[in-house]
Amino acid sequence: MIYVTRPFLPPIDEYQHYIHQIWKRQWLTNIGPLSSELEDHLKKFLDVEHLLYVTSGTIGLQIAIKALELKGDIITTPFSFVATTSAIVWEGCNPVFVDIDSQSLTIDATKIEQAITPDTTAILATHVYGNPCDIDAIDKIANKYKIKVIYDAAHAFAITYKGKSILTYGDISICSLHATKLYHSTEGGLVATKDPMLLKKASLMRNFGISGFNQYSDLGINGKNSEFHAAMGLANLKYVRDIISKRKEITEKYNANLKSAKCLFPVWNKDASRNYAYYPIILQTEQLLLNVMEELEKNQVLTRRYFYPSLSSCLPYLDSQEYPVSDDISKRVLCLPLYYDLTLEEVNFICSVILRVQNNTSW
Ligand SMILES: Cc1ncc(COP(=O)(O)O)c(C=O)c1O
Repeated sequence: MIYVTRPFLPPIDEYQHYIHQIWKRQWLTNIGPLSSELEDHLKKFLDVEHLLYVTSGTIGLQIAIKALELKGDIITTPFSFVATTSAIVWEGCNPVFVDIDSQSLTIDATKIEQAITPDTTAILATHVYGNPCDIDAIDKIANKYKIKVIYDAAHAFAITYKGKSILTYGDISICSLHATKLYHSTEGGLVATKDPMLLKKASLMRNFGISGFNQYSDLGINGKNSEFHAAMGLANLKYVRDIISKRKEITEKYNANLKSAKCLFPVWNKDASRNYAYYPIILQTEQLLLNVMEELEKNQVLTRRYFYPSLSSCLPYLDSQEYPVSDDISKRVLCLPLYYDLTLEEVNFICSVILRVQNNTSW
């Protein structure tokens, strides 16, 4: 079976090296030495000044919303993973969707201003598949209306925009280190901000709002990650560059094989680097997508409709609304297998099935 993704696992003895340290210290969680070491290594690797290691990208989003004291309406994208929207609702705010750009698949910055009302307090936009949003336009709007910006950079580990880490943009950016991500710590997330005071606040919130012995300075949550998770993060970090270059090679193989295929690809932000986190293709019709999926599955290849359905039309706690571009793209986008161990022969096989289905489909 070829899965759509498989987690990278470091050599077990390198992981055990950290686990032995945990056994020796008997310090399992509560921002222990491995968590702190991971934060330090990640700050260097990503070239960001302020960063927190948390339990997940989702908790990172929730802490970001809370730390920025957001209320009312938050403008967001319907084309993302459910956590982007659910974090807003969970924090008692109201998601206001703005449709996406049909090329980049990120929020359409030209449509944001018309959605702003006196109740709008922030924009929460996703760098979809790691492809940065129109950051300059979003920042301009946020400055004009004095609203905050959170970037959901769950997919954007190691991406740079205009030569700087993607995590340095917006008031707060979050990243996911979940096992399905190109770099992971089994479960995990990052909260990054340029503002040291805001980081301090988020850091207190990560630990129940505890500011000292028997002292609480704020409302908080348990967003601390364990030493076991940090151990996986540390063991994996050494391999990130290798993981990204392997994914690049696989991506280039797909690109070469699918040159003649009748499908489109998201248009990448010209000022951004790539991390090859996903390989999404946009097929001509939903029926063709279903045919491709079915035939691949018959051949033991799993793909994923990511993101489908559009968040504006499938959440039981929100009224369903139509957003033509997001509705259309989400029906036609398919992520193909992409992971460190995927062989180029397997890529050739996957592409041959896709091309065969396309050639056999009458229009
Ligand atoms: C765009 C996006 N945002 C947020 C998340 C949530 O991250 P986590 O699974 O670490 O909570 C994900 C997870 O896949 C995601 O894809």
